[in-house]
Amino acid sequence: MEIGFNMAEALERRFAAVAAEIEEFGEGFIPDVRPADPRFGDFQANGVLPFAKRTGRNPRNLAEILVGRIKGSSAGRFDVTVAGPGFINVTLRPAVLLEWLLAYGTERDLRTGASDLYRNRIVVVDYSSPNTAKQMHVAHVRSMVVGEAISRLFEFAGARVTRDNHIGDWGTQYGKLIYAYKNHLDQEALKSDALEELERLYKKGDALCKEDPAHLEQARAELVKLQRGDPGNLKLWEEIKRLSEDAFEEIYGKLGIRFDFHLGESFYRDKVDEVYAELLEHGIAEESEGALVVFHPDHPRFRKQPFIIRKSDGASNYASTDLATVLYRVREWKANKLVYVTDSRQQDHFQQLFLTVERWFAATARPVPELDHVCFGTILGDDGKAIKTRSGDPVKLKDLLNEAEERARAIVQEKNPGLPDDEKDDIARAIGIGAIRYADLAQNRTSDYVFSWDKVLSFEGNTAPYLLYAVARIHSIFTRMGDTAEIDERQATPFETEQEQNLARKLLDFAEVLKMTVGDLRPHVLCTYLYELAGDFSGFYNADKVLVDAAGTRARRILLCRRTLLVLEKGLHLLGIRTLKRM
Ligand code: ARG
Repeated sequence: MEIGFNMAEALERRFAAVAAEIEEFGEGFIPDVRPADPRFGDFQANGVLPFAKRTGRNPRNLAEILVGRIKGSSAGRFDVTVAGPGFINVTLRPAVLLEWLLAYGTERDLRTGASDLYRNRIVVVDYSSPNTAKQMHVAHVRSMVVGEAISRLFEFAGARVTRDNHIGDWGTQYGKLIYAYKNHLDQEALKSDALEELERLYKKGDALCKEDPAHLEQARAELVKLQRGDPGNLKLWEEIKRLSEDAFEEIYGKLGIRFDFHLGESFYRDKVDEVYAELLEHGIAEESEGALVVFHPDHPRFRKQPFIIRKSDGASNYASTDLATVLYRVREWKANKLVYVTDSRQQDHFQQLFLTVERWFAATARPVPELDHVCFGTILGDDGKAIKTRSGDPVKLKDLLNEAEERARAIVQEKNPGLPDDEKDDIARAIGIGAIRYADLAQNRTSDYVFSWDKVLSFEGNTAPYLLYAVARIHSIFTRMGDTAEIDERQATPFETEQEQNLARKLLDFAEVLKMTVGDLRPHVLCTYLYELAGDFSGFYNADKVLVDAAGTRARRILLCRRTLLVLEKGLHLLGIRTLKRM
């Protein structure tokens, strides 16, 4: 059997080929090989049971026939046994584990192996996408962190990725904001903290409109002027947009996020007419009470609940610009997969958007892109409610990131007072930002989670500090061992001890974990794996001395150290987390 990056898939091919030669199997048999509970072996083939059921045969018998043939052709590469009613357990021989680890020894090897997953895919990841004239608060961090991790994972899996920040820069809020800006601006405040002042102005405008319909009239008039292209209002709007984007950039800088495009809603405002026309022409959209709407007759809810794509006053909205955006991305960038990272409250919007796009593209004979809404839950405070400051305001993201660094700095100071100051700062940055990111990624993204400083900054458990420490520890092991560069891995002899074998198997699982992570777009799968890998490494390192006299044993233990470091570092980088050589 040949080695493949994903050994479950290599075995699948092997089993299918053997079965094809057996009369009892033939058409329609899928071996269904997947990683197994380590107590039973490395892999498990579950496909015989459903096949036997379908064809009215005895599964145990069939499994035994198959296993008999596979054994005959396994050439001592793996062991197979039948278990229970007809499952097949597979255990790779240690020599095969070794062969795999030698074959996938560099970042590049791993990348090449993984690149089959999304080869030739052109993916747009739409993430962060905040609204202008507002601060980012804690709730905004998830889209950034999850979006960046997913983008990196796609790239690693062979896709061409475009990161697009679909900024909310064209909404009705501009009427009130411009009205208040013209009448109540505090220049000094704008200079010292622009977003703070813009937020104050928006609130002021909003309050005025509620107080007196005369204000509301004037705010509406400002919005209409803006939408008609009045130069003065356009200039103001541009200024507000620029101030907002500068503030966002500061946060992106801290998180090491860079977009390829920042094409916000306003970019599409002159591209919506084509959308209306096509949807009308193909009978997908209809007029309803002056608005243009789409119903989906086959959907239990959306056959009654309209997707409003043009408001009754003729203005475009979030839905219209999103429709135009899909067309733009497919047409200009040839995208065949679009991924949107927002909180779960937007599920209806995206379901309606996707249903509309599917019908619209089918009607216009365009290839329908794959559409994914990667949604996420809320970050909660200790009280189980959306996280807030003591005064009840949403926590500003800027403040959260600064506090993370400060707290990490105190920990570094305590643990390692002797390091130079600038290195302590750098370590604190990596731990602080890494901790915030990892806390977010390690949760199943669709669940809400409770944020606690003690938990995210803990050096124990499934946290960034624990994993960063595991990485630094392996670096320090290498430092202590002196020069190991000339130890030739190819002298390694097959794994012997239980701990060596556990760790080697775990390393090989990386391929399947990547597949699962990018398949479901759930970074926590990779997090859990890295955490377990670090644990298996500890188990191995505590049990087996590395620098022994026997050259073969020494080489294979060095190999395990090197590969663990490679996979831990690569895995963390894919999640967007910066690793350290010492801390
Ligand atoms: N601006 C929106 C918000 O803050 C998110 C935009 C997501 N992207 C999109 N293409 N709709 O909720």
